[in-house]
Amino acid sequence: MNESSHQRDEQDPGHRHLFHIPPAEGGDHPEVAYFAGNSLGLQPKATRTELNEDLDDWARLGVEGHLDAARPWLPYHELLTEPAARLVGALPSEVVVMNSLTVDLHLLMVSFYRPAGDRTRIVIEDAAFPSDSYAVRSQARFHGLDPDTTVVRLKPRDGEDTLRTEDVLAFLRDEGDTVALLMLGGVNYLTGELMDMATITTAGREAGAVVGWDLAHAAGNVPLSLHEWGADFAAWCSYKYLNSGPGALAGVFIHERHHGDASLQRFEGWWSTESATRFEMTPESRPPRSADAWQVSNPPIFAMGPVRTSLRIFDEVGLPALRERSLRLTAYLRELLDEVVATRPLSVITPREPERHGCQLSVRLHGGNAGALTKRLRFEHGVIADARQPDIVRFAPVPLYSTYEDCRRAAAALAACVEETK
Ligand SMILES: Cc1ncc(COP(=O)(O)O)c(C=O)c1O
Repeated sequence: MNESSHQRDEQDPGHRHLFHIPPAEGGDHPEVAYFAGNSLGLQPKATRTELNEDLDDWARLGVEGHLDAARPWLPYHELLTEPAARLVGALPSEVVVMNSLTVDLHLLMVSFYRPAGDRTRIVIEDAAFPSDSYAVRSQARFHGLDPDTTVVRLKPRDGEDTLRTEDVLAFLRDEGDTVALLMLGGVNYLTGELMDMATITTAGREAGAVVGWDLAHAAGNVPLSLHEWGADFAAWCSYKYLNSGPGALAGVFIHERHHGDASLQRFEGWWSTESATRFEMTPESRPPRSADAWQVSNPPIFAMGPVRTSLRIFDEVGLPALRERSLRLTAYLRELLDEVVATRPLSVITPREPERHGCQLSVRLHGGNAGALTKRLRFEHGVIADARQPDIVRFAPVPLYSTYEDCRRAAAALAACVEETK
């Protein structure tokens, strides 16, 4: 802790120059200290330029752009497949970028939530993002089941904030034969806990359940090996750590063992059929043996552009290097926060061990109002963190663009906003 934040930034600079950093509205700094990349990542400078190239092709070519654009629109989604597959540790045939995250979870559950006999339950974590909770409850209802008994919410032990892997495994050992689908967040949105996805996937499958992962907070944040772990499916959005813009497209993974399985239900549209047959205009589809078969509609090119640009940046920088910088940044923030919380009604609820967290640190404001606190952080100190009511403030130093000085500013701002009680 002897080195200053500025010295650390000189030694370990990241790739901030590739991004637009918003100006600060409050505090003494021209730019915000941005910690909300776990909610909406910042805009890469290349996004606008590359998106304009696609827009220019539309202006120049009209419908002919489907085949004649510099990046032809018909196979455009294929440009995203390989870099997305590298990011999540998958074969290219196992990945496709399409739709939004919750829509994709539903499309995946059409295939992978098939309640039968006594095996009907869906297991999520109690602190699952509400969209996932609504999605699985509506899936239970869709199958004529009672969501209150069908959806199991795994809770941390009394007095603890995060789920223990051993408790997930114990549940699967004891009640796994009732579980049709285990669908947890790879990194929890609220606590920042990184789950042991390899171990849980193996245990879930050994218990006879289908295992899917919501990787909204994991993709672009932590290394993933979905193929090797043997997950049945996964989905993630691209607007958080993948910096592809508000509401950006999602990605899905479907393990290759499911490709071409005619017994799996899928909802289809003209993009579900093999591209070579798409314009034969036949009444029946011929789905490819790949994740592409889960596509339904023709994809939005101008929404895919920013995902393509972002994935290129990840390819150029490399996730392993980003993860190393991420661990250094988050460890630095943690050291600073440890000092701040020691004398205030605050605690850091994210697990401390490096293998149990990604970028994010979640701070609990005991008895306080997280929303009011984040407003003060923003308007008095130019620090953008986000509140999850009633009492959690999330700080995510993002290795592509956050700095050690940002971390110092965040800790100092928190100390200034919350009075000491000890
Ligand atoms: C863990 C998780 N799941 C699902 C969603 C919902 O995503 P979408 O609105 O893209 O469907 C979010 C959004 O933040 C999320 O964090």
